[in-house]
Amino acid sequence: MHPIPIVLDGDPGHDDAMAWLLAKSRSMLEILAVTTVAGNQTIEKTTYNALRICTLLGISAPVGKGAARPLAGVRMNAPSVHGESGLDGPTLPEPDREASPLSACELMAKVLRESPRPVTIVPTGPLTNVATLLLSHPELKEKIARISLMGGGIARGNWTPAAEFNILVDPEAAKIVFSSGVPITMAGLDVTEQALILPEDVEKIRRIENPVANIVWQWLDFFYGFHKKLGYAGAPMHDPCAVAWLIAPEIFEAKELYVEIETQGRYCRGMTAADLRGGAAPNVTALLGLDREKFVELLREAVEAYG
Ligand code: RIB
Ligand code: CA
Repeated sequence: MHPIPIVLDGDPGHDDAMAWLLAKSRSMLEILAVTTVAGNQTIEKTTYNALRICTLLGISAPVGKGAARPLAGVRMNAPSVHGESGLDGPTLPEPDREASPLSACELMAKVLRESPRPVTIVPTGPLTNVATLLLSHPELKEKIARISLMGGGIARGNWTPAAEFNILVDPEAAKIVFSSGVPITMAGLDVTEQALILPEDVEKIRRIENPVANIVWQWLDFFYGFHKKLGYAGAPMHDPCAVAWLIAPEIFEAKELYVEIETQGRYCRGMTAADLRGGAAPNVTALLGLDREKFVELLREAVEAYG
């Protein structure tokens, strides 16, 4: 079986880092490129974090710096969740390379053009780069096999009652992506808030005691700090769900749904509005549940592999 060629596009971000760790751990996935977008923090910080994560994890793919701001609307960051650096907690190695001279969009276009097989894009931040790619290179849409994204929430939001952060930062970009016709797997809050890594799971990772485990348990501990104050039993591993579905779709419950993105609305801008009646032709595979223990085991195995 050929490996699945993928592009990781994110705003690291503790859970983006965990998603990239999971992607690196499986030879069934071939990371062709990493691209960054502003979201959890500014584009400068998310790009610096991406370079440090790739250095730590041994991801040798080029890193393309992406959009500094959404297609429309105002910039939003999340220092309350990920800290001022966007990846607060443990000290990380300095990057072992510079970012690519190509922008995120042009790096994505290059790898799509050159890949012998269609590429899966794994966005775990706002969808600005993916929308820009679709707008500026429509001829490459057929080279996108699937978009497996973390974003949205059918039952609820997290940054507003209606909207999840990644979609809310750039609803116009999300609307372009969700209406593109490209197959989409949507790991929204419905599943990602079930994908909790509990303190006892973190302790098992801490006991692995390899160079990556020594960083990862501190990332998880920091990320849990924000969520613990909100009453969460563990740290929600939002972004790794978008990768885990590619690796082990059988541990997820999914439903084919039609999802529209609200770009207007005083209270609902950024909402992923799903047709649960089944009337409209589906445009996404929406993940609604998972086997949490099997999911956590994927992450633990990924960390252990660095032994
Ligand atoms: O709402 C959760 C999402 O927002 C995750 O991707 C997290 O990294 C932040 O970007
Ligand atoms: Ca993210």
